[in-house]
Amino acid sequence: MIVSLVVAVADNGVIGRDGTLPWRISSDLKTFRRLTMGKPLIMGRRTFQSLQKPLDGRDNIVVTRNADYRPEGAIIAVGFEAALAIARDCATKRGVDEIAVIGGTSVFAEALPIADRIYKTEVHGSPAGDAFFPPVDWHAWEDVSREELPRGPNDDLVVVRREDGPLVVGEDLMTFKVGRTGVEVVPAKAK
Ligand SMILES: NC(=O)c1ccc[n+]([C@@H]2O[C@H](COP(=O)([O-])OP(=O)(O)OC[C@H]3O[C@@H](n4cnc5c(N)ncnc54)[C@H](OP(=O)(O)O)[C@@H]3O)[C@@H](O)[C@H]2O)c1
Repeated sequence: MIVSLVVAVADNGVIGRDGTLPWRISSDLKTFRRLTMGKPLIMGRRTFQSLQKPLDGRDNIVVTRNADYRPEGAIIAVGFEAALAIARDCATKRGVDEIAVIGGTSVFAEALPIADRIYKTEVHGSPAGDAFFPPVDWHAWEDVSREELPRGPNDDLVVVRREDGPLVVGEDLMTFKVGRTGVEVVPAKAK
């Protein structure tokens, strides 16, 4: 069973802010849909709550420490190992051989040691944020494909204002940079 991570991460490691995405990149959402459709998904409780509704056509497996949590349209798992067991079961029932882990921070961190693949959208900008992709030793991974993605008509610019120190979203906005790269990376072969 392949365990994949699917993430969009900014240059500064940010993946989220205030319980949502710090950007709107509609074409990346389409890529996310394509990569995850028909598969069991493992996500943290906050990521699930950031969705407007459960993701259709996919098993929404939500990791929480609250065994009484009963979200509509989702299966809860009290811990990552439990989520993995449920996801394997769901994958077998669906006849698919991939489980997608879709965040956030600690769920990615728990999945990294067993992950076979990372689908990473690099968002070129450094927005302020409060959720980060965990540190990864990228030397242990190799690119298997890389695609420059043009900015689509419904893609926000990452708009930021440079202040002393970190770049933060502000009122007096200037366009900083936009662009993203879809990268598929797999563990480097043992030497
Ligand atoms: N850019 C991206 O690709 C991407 C992907 C995903 C999310 N995001 C963003 O990231 C933010 C959400 O991520 P987050 O890191 O703050 O939260 P999260 O990982 O989605 O959720 C955290 C919660 O998950 C549960 N949890 C995590 N690990 C667990 C474990 N081992 N055992 C039991 N429960 C566990 C806990 O829920 P309980 O508190 O219920 O116990 C914990 O409070 C949002 O801003 C979202 O938009 C971005």
